[in-house]
Amino acid sequence: MKLDLQRLLKKGIYSLIANMCDEPFLIQNVRGQVLYGNADDKYPEKCPVGYQDGVIGWVSGGKKTEAIAKLLEHLATSEYEKKALGKETLAKYRELILLYDITEKLAASLDPQEVASLIIQEANKLINANKVSLMLINENTGLLEVIAGLGDEAKTKMSLKVGEGIAGYIALTGKAEIINNLSDDPRFLVGTRKVSSMMCAPLRIKDKTIGVINISSEEPANYTAEDLKLLSALTLQAAAAIENARLYDALKEAFLTAVSTLAETIEKRDTYTGGHTKRVMEYSLAIGKYFGLPDNEMERLKLAAVLHDVGKIGVRDDILLKNGKLDEEEYREMKRHTIYGEEVLKYIKYFKDIIPGVKSHHERYDGKGYPEGLSGTQIDIIARIIAVGDTFDAMTSDRPYRNALSKEVAYAEIKKCAGSQFDPEVVRAFLKAMALNN
Ligand SMILES: [Fe+2]
Repeated sequence: MKLDLQRLLKKGIYSLIANMCDEPFLIQNVRGQVLYGNADDKYPEKCPVGYQDGVIGWVSGGKKTEAIAKLLEHLATSEYEKKALGKETLAKYRELILLYDITEKLAASLDPQEVASLIIQEANKLINANKVSLMLINENTGLLEVIAGLGDEAKTKMSLKVGEGIAGYIALTGKAEIINNLSDDPRFLVGTRKVSSMMCAPLRIKDKTIGVINISSEEPANYTAEDLKLLSALTLQAAAAIENARLYDALKEAFLTAVSTLAETIEKRDTYTGGHTKRVMEYSLAIGKYFGLPDNEMERLKLAAVLHDVGKIGVRDDILLKNGKLDEEEYREMKRHTIYGEEVLKYIKYFKDIIPGVKSHHERYDGKGYPEGLSGTQIDIIARIIAVGDTFDAMTSDRPYRNALSKEVAYAEIKKCAGSQFDPEVVRAFLKAMALNN
C-alpha cells in the first residue's frame, strides 16, 4: 500500500512537531521536495523516514532529527494499519453481501439441478478459477457424480467412488483442503485433466457428506486459507439448498403419487378399462414438450392431466356406469364433471393453478364445447393440450359399447379436428410427438 508523507503531515502534525523542537528542522519527501521548514536551510545529516522496507522521506536539522523521523515512521505505520483494516473490512463486507445474495437466490429455487448450476456460478464469482464443478453422491449407486460444472468441467461426466481421487477423498473425510501443487499429490488421478492447483470442500448436511465442490486452475494458483474459508461458507449454503430442493422433489413425487392414486380410484368407477389417467398424462406431457412449454407450465400440465376427470367423483353411478348411450338429461349431468372438478379443487390452494386445465378440458377451439363455450386462446393452454391427449386415449381404448380404434385412424381423426375441436398448434405438437415416440 502506497503512503504519501505529505498527506500524513497535513493533519496538524507540523505544529505538534514544531512545539516539540526548539531548533529549526526540515522535512523532505523522498524526491527531496520540502514539506516543512525553510528550503534555504541545508543540514549535512539527513535521517530517513522508513516505511515498509523503503524510505518515504527525510528529516534533517538539530538534535531531535532522529526522534522526529521515528515519530513519522510510527505515524506512517499506524496509518497503514488503519488503511489495511479498512480494506479488510471492505473485503469482508463484500463477501458478506455476496453470500447474502447467494442465499437469496438459492432460496428462490427448488430444482436441484438449477441450485447446483447457481452454486458453481457463484463460486466462480467469489473465487477466481477456470474450472468449477459440483459433485453429488448418487444415493442409489453411492458414486460421486458431477452434476454441474463450469469450463471443461461442464462436459465432464466423471464419477468417482468415495475415497477415490482427491474429490473422493474429501467426500470420505468430510474436510476441506487446498492442494496448490497437484503433481506432488499421490491422490491426484493423473491423465484425467490438466489441472495444477485445486481447492475442494465437502457439502455436508448434519454429519453426512452429500457431495463436493471442486475449484481448480490449469495454471499453478496460490489458493489461500481465506479462499478456502469463503468456499466453505458457500458450501454450507449450497448443501442446505440442495437438500431442500431434494426434499421438495421427494415431497412433490409423494404428492403426485397420492393424487394419481386418487385419480385412479375415481377412474375405477368409470367405464374405462384402466390406465386412462396415466396415459392422458403421458400424452399431454409429450404434447407439452413439443409445444415448447416452460418447466413450470409442464408441472401444471402434469397435475391437471392426472386430475382432469376428478369431477367424476360427483357424477351418479347410474350415469357414469351406464353401458348404453346417455339420454339428454344424463349427458347434461355427465358434462357437469368439469364443474365438479373445479368444486373439488378450489378449496386447496395448491390446486388453484390447475383449475382452468381441469375445468376446460372439454372446451372446443371453435367455442362449441363445455362448460363455458370458451374458444381459441380463451381456453387455457393446459386444457387445450389435455383435450387432445384425452380424446386420443378415449379413441384408442376399448369401451363397453365399442372396440378401440387403431392409432392411425385416431391420428387422422385428431388431424381432421384441428381448428374445430382442437387448437391446430397443439395438434401439430401432438403429431410430432407421436411420430417421434413411435
Ligand atoms: Fe373429461
